[in-house]
Amino acid sequence: MERFDAIVIGAGAAGMFCAAMAGQAGSRVLLIDNGKKPGRKILMSGGGRCNFTNLYVEPAAYLSQNPHFCKSALARYTQWDFIDLVGKYGIAWHEKALGQLFCDDSAQQIVDMLVKECEKGQVSLRLRSDVLSVERQHDEYIVQLNGATVTTTKLVIASGGLSMPGLGASPFGYKIAEQFGLNVLPTRAGLVPFTLHKPLLEPLQTLSGVSVPSVITAQDGTVFRESLLFTHRGLSGPAVLQISSYWQPGEFVTINLLPDSDPESFLNEQRTAHPNQSLKNTLAQQLPKRLVECLQQLGQIPDVTLKQLNAREQQALVETLTAWRVQPNGTEGYRTAEVTLGGVDTRELSSRTMEARNVPGLYFIGEVMDVTGWLGGYNFQWAWSSAWACAQEL
Ligand code: FDA
Repeated sequence: MERFDAIVIGAGAAGMFCAAMAGQAGSRVLLIDNGKKPGRKILMSGGGRCNFTNLYVEPAAYLSQNPHFCKSALARYTQWDFIDLVGKYGIAWHEKALGQLFCDDSAQQIVDMLVKECEKGQVSLRLRSDVLSVERQHDEYIVQLNGATVTTTKLVIASGGLSMPGLGASPFGYKIAEQFGLNVLPTRAGLVPFTLHKPLLEPLQTLSGVSVPSVITAQDGTVFRESLLFTHRGLSGPAVLQISSYWQPGEFVTINLLPDSDPESFLNEQRTAHPNQSLKNTLAQQLPKRLVECLQQLGQIPDVTLKQLNAREQQALVETLTAWRVQPNGTEGYRTAEVTLGGVDTRELSSRTMEARNVPGLYFIGEVMDVTGWLGGYNFQWAWSSAWACAQEL
């Protein structure tokens, strides 16, 4: 039985960073993962360029039943701290939009950096390891692996959420939380595309690949101004991914397809200048032509000239273009979701150390807990911040 000062389960963003920081502070750390290589989600992230943080990180960008929980860790290890670390490794980066920072070159650089940080901390990394059981005897955690038994007084669960099972995601962390009597909040897919009912999907499928600027609003009033993408399964793009975290089954979302113009004035001006122009061609000046045709097919745009468009029809049309109500029939689920909402109830954890209040020596970091960020680097920042806060205690 080999003994470690700390054992971290999950060599993803949070687990690698936590193990590295604890190792560098002098602890003897074992980092375990069931995969063949560490940081698999990092490699996939940001289209292969890893959106590793956001310039505008703030607690309001995180969803949780306990919204104050994330404040302490985010304030103690900030986006600027991680940007400094990236800078020390000479990794070039750029801001894409809305404060989102991406590697110029490749996400592999972030994984390589974390591996080097682990090496600096002399972390033992054990890959392809399944955890068969975890037991607690007095102050000691006994972790049974395939082929070995390891023990520690500080066990960190960094096994992430349920999204993308193909990348090693498992409910392991939730099961451990339940085993030790912690509450686990219901989970659901977040940052995920919407699927649509057949009558709406079929005409919209012809738009697959078309992207438009939009303002999208959830029923709880949450609003995002980002682009919307039509896909062969439904709706996606940053606007939809963001709002999906605020959407509940059965609810509508409201979409402004013309966030940068005033369609009322535009139609009035056009009617005066070109009364015989078709409404369809007029709208095609502001929206992709195929989208206009689809909306016409769905009966949302009358097949008339501008002079034939009466006041009531115009009002209904403006309503459709600026407040199009869509009721998704679901999401694409964990298969394509970037994150998992819900998870280990943070009311059971210390916001300073991430330790379970009633189970000394048991810690949860990263996505496994009920803290979920917006799209745009916020989730990795939570991984870094929660990992750093935990590592100070190991
Ligand atoms: P993470 O999932 O990274 O790591 C968990 C680790 O635990 C995995 O290595 C897994 O193999 C291991 N594990 C699970 N069960 C185990 C078990 N039973 N035994 C042993 N090991 C086990 N965020 C962001 O901020 N910017 C971005 O650009 C992106 N892009 C992005 C793209 C895609 C395709 C996805 C799916 C997700 C993103 N995200 C993102 C979200 C981000 O990847 C996510 O929030 C973090 O990786 C969470 O870090 P964790 O370390 O908590 O879990």
